[in-house]
Amino acid sequence: MLEKRLRLIGQGHIARLLEEGVPFVSRDAVERDLSGVDMGLVDELVQGRHLFGDVDLSRVEPPEVFPASFGDTPGALPYRVHGEKLLREGRVAALVVAGGQGSRLGVEAPKGVVGVTPVTGKSLFQVHAEKVLALSRKFSSSIPLFLMTSRENDQATRFFFREHGFFGLDPADVFFFVQGMLPSVTPAGGLILSREGGLFLNPDGHGGTLSALRKSGCLDLMEERGISEIFYFQVDNPLVAVCDPLFIGLHAVNGADMSTKVVRKRDFDEKVGVIAKVDGRTRVVEYSDMGDGMRLAADDEGGMLYWAGNSAIHVIRRDFVQAITGTGLRLPFHKAAKAIATLGEQGEPVEIRGVKFETFVFDALPMAKCTVSLEVLREDEFAPVKNRAGEDSLESAMAMQSRLHRRWLEDLGIRVDPGCLVEISPLFALGKSDLKARVESLPGNIVKDMYIG
Ligand code: UD1
Repeated sequence: MLEKRLRLIGQGHIARLLEEGVPFVSRDAVERDLSGVDMGLVDELVQGRHLFGDVDLSRVEPPEVFPASFGDTPGALPYRVHGEKLLREGRVAALVVAGGQGSRLGVEAPKGVVGVTPVTGKSLFQVHAEKVLALSRKFSSSIPLFLMTSRENDQATRFFFREHGFFGLDPADVFFFVQGMLPSVTPAGGLILSREGGLFLNPDGHGGTLSALRKSGCLDLMEERGISEIFYFQVDNPLVAVCDPLFIGLHAVNGADMSTKVVRKRDFDEKVGVIAKVDGRTRVVEYSDMGDGMRLAADDEGGMLYWAGNSAIHVIRRDFVQAITGTGLRLPFHKAAKAIATLGEQGEPVEIRGVKFETFVFDALPMAKCTVSLEVLREDEFAPVKNRAGEDSLESAMAMQSRLHRRWLEDLGIRVDPGCLVEISPLFALGKSDLKARVESLPGNIVKDMYIG
């Protein structure tokens, strides 16, 4: 019986609420949620096991990074050519992690549905899907798009894609898979009820991507399709250069298992993880795990020693994921305090302090036998939408997209009035060289907001 089981695992407070028939608490929902919970693991996490340990500064050093200027040197050509070859041969998959909601942006829907482009307001999902479609056309191959959703937003995400005709992609090339969930708990390890009457669960972090890929059968599917490299990115960045051939080529030619694009941190305090070497192995130290010593460490000129911000854009070898998930992957967990909307003793809505546990995909980096880090310019490739206004916001991401597209146009000799917003569809041009090839079809002068598509 459910109540007995709850008492046996030290969760008598939930059993009591069920017995008392407290309004809104649902026995079925609790039973369903509990069946997916590994209570042994939760107990161990509460006791502090499997957690990401502190990073001892004496063991940390700056990483080796290919500078952003590398792409413009003749030495970059063979890598770019190799990346293009892999794309042409259909060996690359795009994977976007989209388990999050747009709550911070005031949208109770998957973050990917938020409109982000400066002139037409296309959604993040549309921008990414159109880039994949444009690449498939450019390289005459099918590039599958994998989307990781969460229990919270899976249905809504699938619906959004169906409703929009998969943005022109062949539905047979679009794959949704759902990440795992973990219960949030009180600091003492007590399970917490959700306002819906079941248990309060949170997505297990984007580290869950790796096991979810295996569990869902997507890894096998990738293998069947001959995919060797997975281009991984976050849903929140409309500037991401999806499946960038140079990055894929650098990673593949160097025999890397997992590689990362980095951007120079704006300042010491920017909330991004940084790439660093810890005990000789490259890894990301997340901002929330970084002590002041590391955050404020300066080089001889007083500049940031740990400047290589994690853009959360990776290329990961498919067989590396197979290898590390084959034997039961255990990434370290990161613990975070969280305000949790739950039910009180009488079923009334209350908010309490709890903790959540998550794993992060970049914690697989130290398992890689080789890894490549490539710097890219923020203004070209990194405009994450995290907030409603200010830095890393909807507003700043729109402005950055318009600025980048304006730069492409101006470099081709097209004049754009200072106050104008411009937006170039990925289906028209993925970059400046594509645009150059179509320059004849463009006006010489842009005097009002313009969508080029
Ligand atoms: C993240 C990175 C940080 C990086 C920054 C760049 C983490 C922990 N940190 O920070 O190192 O510098 O982005 O923008 O990720 N997601 C899921 N499932 C989950 C959790 C997250 O799919 O369980 C997805 C979200 O939809 C989002 C992405 O992962 O696309 C990032 O999550 P978010 O919580 O916004 O991370 P940040 O704190 O912004």
